[in-house]
Amino acid sequence: MDKAVLRELGRKKFGKFCRVCNTCDGVACAGEIPGIGGVLTGRSFQNNILALRAVLLHQRIVHGAGSPDTSCEIFGFKMAAPLIAAPIGGISYNLNDFTPEGDYARSIVAGSVQSGCLGMTGDGGPEIIYRSGIEAITEAGGRGIPTIKPRPNRDIIRQAETAARSGAPAVAVDVDSAALVNMTRINQPVGPKTEREIAELAREIQLPLIIKGVMTVEDAEASLAAGAAGIVVSNHGGRVLDHTPGTAAVLPGIARAVKGKMAVWVDGGVRTGVDILKMLALGAEAILVGRPFMQAAAGGAEGVAFAFAAMIEQLKLAMIMTGASKLADIDDSFIFREK
Ligand SMILES: Cc1cc2nc3c(=O)[nH]c(=O)nc-3n(C[C@H](O)[C@H](O)[C@H](O)COP(=O)(O)O)c2cc1C
Repeated sequence: MDKAVLRELGRKKFGKFCRVCNTCDGVACAGEIPGIGGVLTGRSFQNNILALRAVLLHQRIVHGAGSPDTSCEIFGFKMAAPLIAAPIGGISYNLNDFTPEGDYARSIVAGSVQSGCLGMTGDGGPEIIYRSGIEAITEAGGRGIPTIKPRPNRDIIRQAETAARSGAPAVAVDVDSAALVNMTRINQPVGPKTEREIAELAREIQLPLIIKGVMTVEDAEASLAAGAAGIVVSNHGGRVLDHTPGTAAVLPGIARAVKGKMAVWVDGGVRTGVDILKMLALGAEAILVGRPFMQAAAGGAEGVAFAFAAMIEQLKLAMIMTGASKLADIDDSFIFREK
């Protein structure tokens, strides 16, 4: 397996739905939904990339951090790195049906597990999307986290019961799919959640609840007050609202408000291990990667594991070059700011 082979494989399999650009930055695919682009002008997807690009790191070489440790623990799982495959559903309509939904979920979860990490699975109109994720997680002995669309609460609670049976350590709800085109087009009722509705979910669901799609301090604080165990700072890869800031820009404020009281994860535009280090320095405890792992799934679980390994290796090199011997060393002081 190598990068060029994976890229060629992806280009053949995805057709016009994803060009597998050298840099996956949302420019060529702007507005392509169904497809893998950002919504309308694609600016929110692009802003994720630009916000991370604007973060600069201090290079440090006078220290003893020569063999950094990237391991951590998430919801009781020992992790090789704080890296999680983001949930991606709807391979049939977003990705040229390049592989059956079940095979995709299996590649993501198995590839994540092979890498000593965790994979998340998605949800969508056809019920096979969610079911495929649950089956893949069950096969992996519960080493995965399913994500449920913000459907009526009674439906979420029912879907979360199957999540609990799969052995998953937590369940997520991507509340930012409140107006997702792919769902509204096929008349699947989804919508925003009030604090009271989130509190009902946190109370009724047996598993820790993660709210995905938080972009403001207010939403983070409301999720915390409602009893959520964690949040994912995310604009859904720029697919739900045009012209949001990049997630790296809003992460520090959100982390300052709620970190230590709930899990703070982030996604959006993370393309290398250096980006992972930047997100950790900005306050995240775990980082989700979407499109790059999706593209790597063109090579099945092996392709996904290859992409994980590359990012973890880059993270290690970045830790050496910034002076971090363990993840806890990485903080705001790693970020260069012009005086
Ligand atoms: C084609 C596609 C499908 C997605 N499906 C889901 C989904 O079912 N549930 C969800 O929570 N997020 C979904 N997402 C959002 C991702 O989980 C993640 O937030 C986003 O892709 C991160 O940005 P990145 O791709 O730049 O890493 C989807 C994203 C894409 C591109």
